[in-house]
Amino acid sequence: MQVHTSIASLRAALAGSRDHALVPTMGNLHQGHIALVARARQLSDAVVATIFVNRLQFRPTDDFDAYPRTFEQDCAKLETAGVAHLFAPSENEMYPQPQAYHVVPPPDQDGILEGEFRPGHFRGVATVVLKLFHIAMPRLAVFGKKDYQQLMVIRNMVRDLNLAIEIVAEDTVRAPDGLALSSRNGYLSAQQRAEAPRLQKCLAIVRKSILGGDSDFERLEREAMVELRASGWIPDYVAVRKKLDLQLPISHDSELVVLGAALLGSTRLIDNLEV
Ligand code: PAF
Repeated sequence: MQVHTSIASLRAALAGSRDHALVPTMGNLHQGHIALVARARQLSDAVVATIFVNRLQFRPTDDFDAYPRTFEQDCAKLETAGVAHLFAPSENEMYPQPQAYHVVPPPDQDGILEGEFRPGHFRGVATVVLKLFHIAMPRLAVFGKKDYQQLMVIRNMVRDLNLAIEIVAEDTVRAPDGLALSSRNGYLSAQQRAEAPRLQKCLAIVRKSILGGDSDFERLEREAMVELRASGWIPDYVAVRKKLDLQLPISHDSELVVLGAALLGSTRLIDNLEV
């Protein structure tokens, strides 16, 4: 695996390559990221992974400096997974001057769900992802369904800006007890870790009710939040939305996804299940 810290070095190494896939990450890698790499390998000649903790997608109140940085371990995992090129730029390489131009997703995509609780987050994500696309020029890029709204924002950006990049969605990787793998799981105490699968279980109950014909989505959302609160969580939302654009479902025949976000102690977990 070649490690590049400069844009020029990555571009030189990729010159002439027509079929490479991009897997953007912020590091602190787990099996979920490795599944993205495996998918990218299946679909392309060479995989370019990136590790860049993107300040633009953190709020001023988020602890950007405390975000776990595990570069050596990440490199070993990516090498074993068969990544050909790792792009790991410094902040100065990505933002040599303060970023003045941004990709601003529309409010109906940016101001809902995660965007309501993390204002500006998707503007930061879309901006850095567009930069990474231009730097690496991949034929395709793989993103996890765990960050469902991020995936939607990126898909829509690619469509609206006519980028010639295929966006591939990879299923969430889960622990045997159902907990979605996430870098944030590392913040949980042993007791919280045992409790954490409840979020997924609550979403699964909503999904089961919908599949059984229940279309009172608001009641199902409320009941899931009550169950979470009763077990000590502070839910931000449980929401039944259309898969395509995460807007409120109008008719029962839309394809649906159930999404949830809740605080367990001081750790905020998110998850979703397609119906
Ligand atoms: O999902 C992530 O890790 C980040 O949001 C991404 C896509 C790498 C952009 O910084």
